[in-house]
This record gives sequence, C-alpha cells and structure tokens, in this order.
Amino acid sequence: MSSGAGQLDVARVRGLFPGLSDGLVHTDGPGGALVPESVVRAVSQAMRVPIADRGGVFASSARAEQLVSGARTAVADLVGAVPAGVVLGPNVTSLTYAVARALGKHWRRGDEIVVSRLDHDANIRPWLQIADEIGMVVRWAEVDIETGELPDWQYDELLTDRTRLVAVTAASNAIGTCPDVTAIGLRAHRAGALVYVDAAHAAPHMLLDITQLEADFVALSAYKWGGPHVGAVVAHPGLLGELRPDKLVPAPDRVPDRFEQGSPPYELYAGVAASVDHLAALCPETPGTRRERLAVSLSAVGRYEDALFDRLDRALRSMAHVQVLGSPQYRTPTLSFTLPRMRPRQVARELARRGVCAWDGDFYSRELFDAIGANEDGGAVRLGLMHYNTVDEVDHVIDSVAALR
Ligand SMILES: Cc1ncc(COP(=O)(O)O)c(C=O)c1O
Repeated sequence: MSSGAGQLDVARVRGLFPGLSDGLVHTDGPGGALVPESVVRAVSQAMRVPIADRGGVFASSARAEQLVSGARTAVADLVGAVPAGVVLGPNVTSLTYAVARALGKHWRRGDEIVVSRLDHDANIRPWLQIADEIGMVVRWAEVDIETGELPDWQYDELLTDRTRLVAVTAASNAIGTCPDVTAIGLRAHRAGALVYVDAAHAAPHMLLDITQLEADFVALSAYKWGGPHVGAVVAHPGLLGELRPDKLVPAPDRVPDRFEQGSPPYELYAGVAASVDHLAALCPETPGTRRERLAVSLSAVGRYEDALFDRLDRALRSMAHVQVLGSPQYRTPTLSFTLPRMRPRQVARELARRGVCAWDGDFYSRELFDAIGANEDGGAVRLGLMHYNTVDEVDHVIDSVAALR
C-alpha cells in the first residue's frame, strides 16, 4: 500500500518491529503484540539514567514523576480521557480485582451485577467472586452461539434498580465480536448502574472513546498494542475519588495514585508512552495532537486489518474441513476455528511447523467456550491479525490450514 495520509505503509511499518526478523508469521497478536523498536529503545534509555522513586526533591525522582505522567497522558489520549483518571498497574486482571474490591465496599447483599458470557475471564471472575462474598445476585448476558453476537436488547431484562455494575467487553479476544457497548452502557446508566468495559483486545484495532462508549471504567493492557506488560484502568477522576481501595497508610491518597500499590515499573512506563506514540505515528504525515493522530492512524489500521481479515475469514469459511466459530457483524481481525479430526493443540503444532504462530485453547474465554461446547475438545485455534501482518502472510496461513485437510 502507498504511504499517503491516512494510509498504512505496511512495508515501512514492518521495518519498525525487530521481532519480525524471526521470519515467522505472527498471528498470535491477541495474546500479545510484537514490540516496536521505539518501545525497546524508550525502556532501555529510561534505564540508562538514574530513576529514583517519586516524591523526592532531586533530579532522578523528578524523572520518575515524568515517566508516570507520560504514561498516564498517553493512555488518556488512547481512550479520550484525562490523565488524572488513569490508574496504572500490572495488568487488566489485577486491576480489575482491585477495582472490584474497592467497589464492593459500597455494595450490599441483594445488589446485582451483570456479566457477559462473551468476556475474557478477567472481566467475569473478579465480579463473581466479590458478588459471592457480599451475597449479590449475578445475571448473565448470553451470546448467540450461532453468530457469536452479544445482543444488547437482553440488557433490558437483565437490568433492575438493584444493578450496581455491568461488566462487558469491547471485543472478544477469542472470536473478535464487538458488542454494541454504547447501547449497553446507555441502558445500564439509565438503570443507575456503573459500566466496566474490558478494552484489552479492542485497543489495538480501533479508536476508543470512554465517553462515547458510555463507560465508567475502561481496562487496558499495553502489551496488546505493542507496549510493555503494564495495565491501566481509566475512569473519571471524580468516580475514583469516591472509592477507597486497599492501600498502605503512608502511600499517597490522591487520585489516581491511591489505586497504585508499591513502587511501579517506571522504565516500562517509558515504553507505554512510546507504544502510544508508535500507534499515533503509523500514518507519519498526519498533523494534530496525539489524539487526533491516533484517530487517523487507528482508522487506517482498521481499514487495513479489515481487508486482510476478510481474505482470511472468507478463505477459511470456504474450506469444508474448517469450522470458524461465530460470524459476528462487527469484529476485530480475530477468529477461532476447529477441525473435525484434529485437536487444536495438534493443529497449532502443524501450523508452527509451517512457521505460523497461533494459540490454541480457550484463551481464558472459558464461559464462552463452555457455552459453545468447544472446551470438550481442547478449545480452538485462534488467528489474530495486527497492523504488521501482510497479505502474503495471510495467504501462507490459508495454505497452511488448507494443507490440514
Ligand atoms: C479481552 C481480554 N481481557 C483481559 C485480558 C487479561 O489481560 P491481562 O493479561 O492484562 O490481565 C486479556 C488477555 O488476554 C484479554 O484479551
């Protein structure tokens, strides 16, 4: 593709990823994306100079402060929020447990939560466990097993005046489905419930906007878009101010610091900022603020990935020996498939032998795969595309799956 404004020059983009020099086809992006050189450099540069903890009056402490604020500002730009609402932490799972604990202090026996069968377990189990401790009612939003959609109309029946929280994914990391989170959020807000959106899988593929999503919390993990292993939960600072997470007494009580336990990985925070800069610079001539550039580049990423994915999806669906799970209308470039006489682990091994990196299993979408019945046979094989994948790679994957007939 040419490198005009708003278009992805994939040859140039691939040159940014040292990991691609292994010559393999990386369709394992949903489990964690490859890391651009700019991120590697930012992390190593941060470690070449002294970094102390924050709160001191000397230069290396000020440097730590800058790294925290750089990472918060970058994540805020990614979801259209303010840096003061960005809580940084180890990953989505730990942060969701922490938020669930903090929210649970406000909930009572008989209160209700709504979780979805489409979600990664990280946006189910923390809520189920806190609900169980308190004696809350859990309601489930179900997936249409044929299409893989999560219909939003069902929330009319699931929400009551006792609903305290709706937890829902912006995109399924297993089958790519993008539910209408805005429609679900509007319903939840009308019922007076909070909305916790897991955007870990969605973030590398689309421009997210916390307000437009009708989300109160958005959970993210930088390693899903080419950053280091750092997670974030984004919320309105006012909402964070109402919550009392477990914390040490001498640790800062201000928001969002109140939610961040212990000394953070400052050097990785440099990589978080660099990874958002990487996304924002994918269409290099684009002018404007980082948020404006993200809007252009992620829209180019979306168009590019959609075309690639369409090729992959159509080809696999045309193969009599392949069963692609679900057929959602709006989706990320991610699918899962099974073959009738081969277990997913065996298929993944065969693909690996042909130079294709692909995950097998349930991808922690345990509830979804149990509902589909896929877990009895070892789950499925997942193929997920990223902005560094190419048509040639997709054709190689197609040929490799065809060869397993
Ligand atoms: C949709 C989704 N949610 C949550 C998670 C868990 O993220 P983390 O590894 O940051 O805890 C993942 C990771 O695979 C994911 O894909």
